[in-house]
Amino acid sequence: MYKITTIPGDGIGQEVMNPTLEILETINAQFDFIPQEAGAECYKKYGTNLPEKTIQSCKESDSTLFGAVTSIPEQKSAIVTLRKELDLYINQRPIKSYTNPDIDFTIIRENSEGLYSHIEEDYGDEAIAIRKITYKGSERICKYAFEYATKTKQEKVTAAHKANVLPLTDGVFKRSFYKEAEKYPHIKANDFYIDAMAMYLITNPAQFDVIVTTNLFGDILSDQGGGLLGSLGLIPSANISKDNGLFEPVHGSAPDIAGQNKANPIAMILSGCLMLEFLGIQKEAEKIQQTIETVIKEGKIKTPDMGGNNNTQEICDEILRKL
Ligand code: NAI
Ligand code: MG
Repeated sequence: MYKITTIPGDGIGQEVMNPTLEILETINAQFDFIPQEAGAECYKKYGTNLPEKTIQSCKESDSTLFGAVTSIPEQKSAIVTLRKELDLYINQRPIKSYTNPDIDFTIIRENSEGLYSHIEEDYGDEAIAIRKITYKGSERICKYAFEYATKTKQEKVTAAHKANVLPLTDGVFKRSFYKEAEKYPHIKANDFYIDAMAMYLITNPAQFDVIVTTNLFGDILSDQGGGLLGSLGLIPSANISKDNGLFEPVHGSAPDIAGQNKANPIAMILSGCLMLEFLGIQKEAEKIQQTIETVIKEGKIKTPDMGGNNNTQEICDEILRKL
């Protein structure tokens, strides 16, 4: 029996969680889902967007499934705080098109420092955000990227940074990247400045296998990945460390479509598959992924972001029917 904390959150986070749990409940594994709250609605109720009870539940569970939350200026980001509390320093985001074979790469984003350190200082009309990059933090994420490339039999790891303008912070990142690369001579290693990288992702995405980068750059590149696939509603992510994992779609709470039952649940369901892989339930994860691939390739049942007019539940029902 796996203990899984579920945090639907706000907006479409809630709408994509239910179909995901519905699908996970059909597979050959036993889950004890423990619902917890976080986000803007939670703040209205309890005065905090991330109650201690939620953090504790995540710490005590085998994994967490997270929908999405609406951010509020009064509070630190709930998801960034959770990643820190659980020390989930790896954020793995597979960008895979089921219709264009040129688009198939994975972004490994540093998840614990950089511009997401939550260190901001207010000086009235001036404010400073601190971008902290450590050798230790860079080394462990670069090591993971090379381990991941080895495990998944990929040829190349590419680092994205801005060491020309940020020679100290990104200098640390780049140095640790090439130091790790020496330990993996079977994997090619190269690097690009983040701005050039943003262009190459559009002009020649086929050249990328694994991309490793710092926190903010990884956040931006992964939404760009959503653009490449045509929708953010297709990209899952795994926030992991050796001991714990939190799995969430890359998208946010999408207030523009919330409450209309038209959110694409695929990103959340694929996040559930990443959780199954993390828990060692590999076969079932592959089965669901393959079914989603078939549904996308057939293109008969599609939410509006994919160019169709089916609703959230219809995607879920189609996946369940094929499973
Ligand atoms: P968003 O990711 O919520 O939406 C961006 C665009 O993509 C919107 O047009 C939305 O309709 C579309 N979209 C996203 N997911 C979709 C899905 N599953 N199906 C169909 N269309 C989808 O980003 P936005 O609008 O910048 O942020 C909204 C709120 O979410 C903000 O409060 C933001 O801070 C928060 N947010 C939370 C995240 C999290 O909880 N991990 C991540 C990103 C944003
Ligand atoms: Mg993001």
